[in-house]
Formats: sequence, C-alpha cells, structure tokens
Amino acid sequence: MTDLLLLPGDGIGPEVIAEVKRVAQRLANDLSIEERPFGGISYDQSGSPLTDEVLAEAKAAKAVLMGAVGGPKWADAPRDKRPEAGLLALRAGMEVFANLRPALCFQPLADASSLKRELVEGLDFMIVRELTGGIYFGAPRFIETLPDGGKRAVDTQVYTTAEIERVARVAFELARGRRNKVHSAEKSNVMDSGLLWREVVTDLHRREYADVQLEHILADNAAMQIVKNPKQFDVLVTDNLFGDILSDEAAQLTGSLGMLPSAALGEAGKPGLYEPIHGSAPDIAGQGIANPLAAILSFEMALRWSLDRAHLADRLFAAVERALAAGARTRDLGGTLSTAQMGDAVLVEL
Ligand code: NAD
Ligand code: IPM
Ligand code: MN
Repeated sequence: MTDLLLLPGDGIGPEVIAEVKRVAQRLANDLSIEERPFGGISYDQSGSPLTDEVLAEAKAAKAVLMGAVGGPKWADAPRDKRPEAGLLALRAGMEVFANLRPALCFQPLADASSLKRELVEGLDFMIVRELTGGIYFGAPRFIETLPDGGKRAVDTQVYTTAEIERVARVAFELARGRRNKVHSAEKSNVMDSGLLWREVVTDLHRREYADVQLEHILADNAAMQIVKNPKQFDVLVTDNLFGDILSDEAAQLTGSLGMLPSAALGEAGKPGLYEPIHGSAPDIAGQGIANPLAAILSFEMALRWSLDRAHLADRLFAAVERALAAGARTRDLGGTLSTAQMGDAVLVEL
C-alpha cells in the first residue's frame, strides 16, 4: 500500500513538491511514496486531467499530496477536461468533504502580513470549508443562448441536511480540541441554502455540542471581521464557495498565499487529500522562486492526520518555525531565497 501519493501537477506545483520530497526523505524515509501525473500535464499526456487509474490509486493510498493545477495553457480546454475539473473530480472521488485551512501566523512573519502586527501576531484560527457540495457541484449548470442572441448561465447552489451536518460535526470536534468556539458563516438572509445551513448547524449544536460556543455570522460580515479582528475566530465553518474566498483572504493575514497548507478529510479511515491552498502561479512558474512552505506544511498535516506520525509532524513544524525565525524568506515574504534555498533552510533545521 502506498503511504503517500504525490500529484505535483502544473506550474509551481512540481517545484514546491520537489522540496516536499527532500523533506520526506530526510524525515521519514520509510514512507512508500509514489508520484503520478495530474491536472494539465495529465490532460496533455492522456486527454484527461484525472485518469481512472490515478483516482483509484489516490483512493487506495493512505494520503494524497498535490501541488497545484491549472494555467493559461489549458484555458481553452473543454470545461470538463480542464485541470481544475480534475481537482474537483479528485475531491469528489475521494469524498473528502471537510477542508481544513489553518490561518496561522508564524511569529517571525507578523510583519509580512498586510495587516498591522498587533492584529495578526499570534493568530491561529481554522477555516473548515465544505468541499464536495454546494455551487461547485450543484446541477443544473449550463450556458444557453437566448432568442435575442444573449446568453444565460446557470449554476446551482445546493446542500442537504446530511452534507451540512457532517462538515459542521468536524468543526465542532476540532473546536473542542482548540478554544471551543465555532463561527458558522452563510447568507441565510438571502439564500435558502443558507437558511438550511443555519438550521442544521443550530440543531446539531443543541443536540450534541452545546458545550461549544457557537456564533452564526453572515458570510459578508465574516469577510470584514477577518481583516478587522481576525483573532476573534477559532474555527470558522462555511460552504464550498464562501470557504474558497475566505481562505484566500485569511492566507494573506499569515503573510503570503505561499504559506497556507490544507487538509481535506472524509470519513474516518479514508485517505486525506493534502494541498497548499495556492494555485499554479503561472506568473512565477519556472523561475524557482515559489515559496515551498505551504506544500511542506501540507505534508506536515498529512503526517499528522493520515500517516499517524504526529511526532514527525511536530518536528517538521518546529523546523519551519526555526527557519523563519532565522530569517529564511522567499520573495513573497519580502526575501530573496529561491524555492530550493527555502527547502535547504528547513532541512538544516531538521
Ligand atoms: P495563484 O494562487 O496561482 O496565484 C495568486 C498569486 O499568488 C500570484 O501572484 C502568485 O505568484 C502568488 N503565489 C501563489 N502561490 C505562491 C507561492 N507558493 N509562492 C509565491 N507566490 C505565490 O492563483 P491564480 O493566479 O488565481 O490562479 C492560477 C491558476 O491556478 C489558475 O489556473 C487556477 O485555477 C489555479 N488554481 C489552482 C489551485 C489548486 O490547484 N489547488 C488553487 C488555486 C488556483
Ligand atoms: C482552491 C482553488 C480551487 C477551488 C480551484 C482551482 C478549483 O481555488 O483550492 O482554493 O476553487 O476550490
Ligand atoms: Mn481557492
């Protein structure tokens, strides 16, 4: 059985995953690691961004770690063959419905954030993004041509009780191991799916998690509160689309999109999907300057959540912290290190 399936993908994906491989070799060389094409590169090779074989291997591995997918090269590929469609198919196929996106500001990076130091110093909250439902997957979806020659595009936001409940449960469970507070963000003031979201979260809280502090918050207000007073959050649970947007916003609090890892989890015992939340960064791809820390920290999350090696995760986390404290900075953090030099900096601390 493969412990870790690597899907480097496109753009800076292979560049940051290369550093993960070096770290894995140093830290846990007993792990069995395989690597497969995924995303645009897979489309180029086989006509599909996610082949049946790769999906089957992903479901059979203990953990999957991807780099990033997409880029201008595939902008005109058919929608269902685009690299991003492969990513959605991977998430759906692996049934990883809860995406944990930590917004954590490393002490030495408090000045790299675009917010004032006092707002982000010590920041540590967790976004729990629903990942396999909502408007990303709802049907119908289409673009049609109207009699007047104009067009009409439809996407559908849809959630069931069961989908909301299982992701809310993850949020409440996480909160119990943290500061015991959950914010649930939706737009119940305008959307029926938001209304159901609020009802289901309220009900689950009353039945099973009354010991956890719960606050409902409208998603637009959440966006504002994240830059106004981010330290009020502990766990923030929200739907697929709001979670996508709010997590990019939260990433910048931590200094750079290049810092934020994520873990996508399904039912207990099923493999997790780990991915930096950043994309393939076509603007800097090929230059060897991408920050590999989001990918390295995604590996850290895989060690912790799927590979049963929390002690190694602790060591890796501490090594990243020390590298940053020693001044290691890629360009996105205001420094001059290359991707490989940032990898070196972590390896030195390991
Ligand atoms: P992006 O995250 O790729 O880039 C946004 C900005 O952040 C760019 O200026 C980029 O240079 C910078 N950046 C991102 N990661 C960085 C890193 N590790 N180090 C330094 N700088 C970094 O988002 P985008 O430009 O909107 O999207 C580009 C492509 O990536 C699109 O095709 C998009 O669909 C895809 N995408 C993929 C994923 C994924 O695979 N999980 C996530 C987001 C976007
Ligand atoms: C992310 C990305 C993806 C998303 C895209 C590339 C499909 O933005 O992981 O945040 O929207 O979920
Ligand atoms: Mn995103």
